[in-house]
Amino acid sequence: MQGQEDINNHAMINTKKINVNDILLMKQEKRKISVLTAYDYHTALLCDKAGVDILLVGDSAGMVMLGYPNTIPVNMEEMLLFSRSVSRGTKRAMIVGDMPFGSYQSNVQEGVENAIHFIKAGCDAVKLEGGIEVIDTIKAIINAGIPVMGHIGLKPQTSILWSGYRLQAKTKDSALKLISDAKALVQTGVFSIVLEMVASEVAELISKNISVPTIGIGSGSSCDGQVLVLHDLLGIYEDIKPKFVKRYAELAKLIFEAILQYNNDVRYGRFPEEQNAFHMSQDEIKELYTALENGF
Ligand code: KIV
Repeated sequence: MQGQEDINNHAMINTKKINVNDILLMKQEKRKISVLTAYDYHTALLCDKAGVDILLVGDSAGMVMLGYPNTIPVNMEEMLLFSRSVSRGTKRAMIVGDMPFGSYQSNVQEGVENAIHFIKAGCDAVKLEGGIEVIDTIKAIINAGIPVMGHIGLKPQTSILWSGYRLQAKTKDSALKLISDAKALVQTGVFSIVLEMVASEVAELISKNISVPTIGIGSGSSCDGQVLVLHDLLGIYEDIKPKFVKRYAELAKLIFEAILQYNNDVRYGRFPEEQNAFHMSQDEIKELYTALENGF
């Protein structure tokens, strides 16, 4: 039975902290890598317990947790708060902190300093968007001893300013550019690369021809691993529903119904019930009333 087999596999997951070598080994051994976003202590606990390999403190937190319209406004202070929270709930998974827009674009030094902040907040690595244009920054961060996950294809922080969220590498020229970016990132020393909304054929080509794992999102099944925004797969975040998301639950409906019931129960006096209340002893009550009758 598939479900039972999955649970047994899960029970066998050891609790040793996953590091860069483990992730590289997974590609060599053709073991798929599971990655999910996490922004808080409780969901980190659950993802870690379920055996997710990498928890990405994604800048999607800006949209999902803070209600910004896209990933541009979220800042370092906010991302570090999410990172600390995730780190407190995680024992086994590798934690990757997503560098927000503006934290590494101005100059290399600032990029390194901000990457260090993520590590101090409990992350094990950082991710930043971009190919050849951010190579110097990635090199400097790796030289500071910090593992870097690349991110090419759709780059939500800047794609929205140019063309919106669209499929990438649809043409020969754009595919060649993406392949050059991937090779440059590998040469610089990244330990994995997110491929976002890349035509499946190109994602497959890249995955087969580079030595580090590719982590796909909307880039087909040939990538070495997959990442999704947790709130998308749980059906909590309903503002945008990309085609590449698989909904494993419809939690927004469940949560809404529970809140609605609570609201009505309070309004009509059905909550709290006797089982939710605390009481004084009969003796204390008697003494209290006597004291009140005697004017204290
Ligand atoms: O911020 C994010 O959630 C991401 C991924 C989905 C790749 O960057």
